Amino acid sequence: MAYVSRSRTADAWLRAEPYPWAMRRLTRRHMLQLAGLTATATAAGPWLTACSPATGPLAVMPTRDPGFQPDLDLTLRAFADEVALLLGAATRVWRYEGSVVSGDPDSVQPIPGSYLGPIIRVRRGQKVRITFNNDLPDDDQESIIHWHGLQVPAAMDGHPHNAIAPGRSFVYEFEVIDRAGTYWFHPHPHGLTAEQVNAGLAGLFIVSDVETDTVALPAGEADLPLVIQDRVIDSDNQFVYALDMMSAMMGFLGDRVLVNGQADLVIPAATRAYRLRVLNGSNARIYKLAWSEGDPLTVLGTDAGLLGAPIERPYVMLAPGERVELWLDLRDRALGSELHLISQAFSGADGVGGMAGGMMHGGMAGGEQGEALPLATLRVERQEADGLVLPETLVTPTALTPDEAVNAAGPRRIVISQQNMAWKLNGRDFEMTAVADDEQVRAGTLELWEIVNDVNPQEMMDPLGMAHPFHIHGVQFQVVGRSLRGDYPELAEGYATVSAGFVDEGWKDTVLIMPGETVQLIMRFPQYPGLFVYHCHNLEHADQGMMRNYQIL
Ligand code: C2O
Ligand code: CU
Ligand code: CU
Repeated sequence: MAYVSRSRTADAWLRAEPYPWAMRRLTRRHMLQLAGLTATATAAGPWLTACSPATGPLAVMPTRDPGFQPDLDLTLRAFADEVALLLGAATRVWRYEGSVVSGDPDSVQPIPGSYLGPIIRVRRGQKVRITFNNDLPDDDQESIIHWHGLQVPAAMDGHPHNAIAPGRSFVYEFEVIDRAGTYWFHPHPHGLTAEQVNAGLAGLFIVSDVETDTVALPAGEADLPLVIQDRVIDSDNQFVYALDMMSAMMGFLGDRVLVNGQADLVIPAATRAYRLRVLNGSNARIYKLAWSEGDPLTVLGTDAGLLGAPIERPYVMLAPGERVELWLDLRDRALGSELHLISQAFSGADGVGGMAGGMMHGGMAGGEQGEALPLATLRVERQEADGLVLPETLVTPTALTPDEAVNAAGPRRIVISQQNMAWKLNGRDFEMTAVADDEQVRAGTLELWEIVNDVNPQEMMDPLGMAHPFHIHGVQFQVVGRSLRGDYPELAEGYATVSAGFVDEGWKDTVLIMPGETVQLIMRFPQYPGLFVYHCHNLEHADQGMMRNYQIL
């Protein structure tokens, strides 16, 4: 029986046409039809398996290193399940379940009662093998896991062209080269990411290392992950994911916040210090994190690890994909007292100055970007002495120097614009494997990128644009600077409600760019040649094509 390489078929087809949004759900059935094969004939065929030899214009897998000796060998399975989320009917979810094949059994920690994936804990320098089994029930739900924030070889990054059909497996093998930090993993099949994340597929990937072992920070139960997501939940307790014109353009917002997969989360706490690792795992909602009593937030770290020293912010802006680590001191708190983590109201992120700004997210979606929301509560329930004090310094910072960038004189520019209610990067849509000449970089070089969130005066819906969380795979960057165009007072007004909450110190992989804002980033590309994507981490935007490849040469 003949079989085809999925990458060749799908990619040839995708390249032949611009990528029309209406057809974004390229199903496995379509691909089979295109290949002139029937579903039954190929269902058992060897194509799509991770272990089949790489063919087509892109290697699906690199030549496997037979000498790869994993320190940690895991499986992660995506499957349909039910969780008891609210009183009454169980909520149907899709989630990841992990298990340890060999290595430290504590490296996979399930979150009991939550749809969220396990927390995977690894050491820097460890070699990890992870076998992903796509057991999603719907034949159309191809999937692939992306390790958000980690620098791994291109073939291990979960590029959408590596997506596998239900019933198939993909084997990842990589060394964890990144510094200690709070990373995460989530699906990345093109056109289906938003839906799959909303259904419950996401988990934390926490890296520790020798350098941070010696930093005296809260550990064990006092090292507390908080994954914030919003959902629309119907009267039958089911997650709703339905895009209308408005939510397709602006992103899907929920009116119900879940933290660690729980509604109205109350965390029993002690009179001690805590390290909070906060991830915004929402599709489109941006949070303005604050303590209800107005105390400043003490920030320990950003996306990719600890800062040189703790800093304070009155509030912290956290866009989809971003992480922040906080120090929380409950030592002077009375037993029985409560502290609320909230999202404060802000403006200017969504459809400024156009029709979109005045409209609620219509249809089934809930809530508005920038509305005030309760997130989680810490309730002090027991006495505990930890003897910890906030360290004055954390890690030795490495600042990248803009003058040393190869393109210091002319940074690479990426302009965000809108055409016919669709968001573009340099006027382009995502193409599965295409890379433009201006999207090629050299391994090992230091580059400046300038991301310009442009105004679109000719567009009726949101002429001044909206906020976009800009994310780059395969590399970590630092924020060099920001500037806001001065010719629209509306933009400055919204900006004033968020700008004190950016944490631009430290290592990042995702950065929030407000309407009319230009953000300059500096990064050094690792020695991992191949295709990586950069995209908006508003997942509806990414799915609709606000994503591009870049190639490390
Ligand atoms: Cu978390 Cu390509 O994304
Ligand atoms: Cu990523
Ligand atoms: Cu966007």
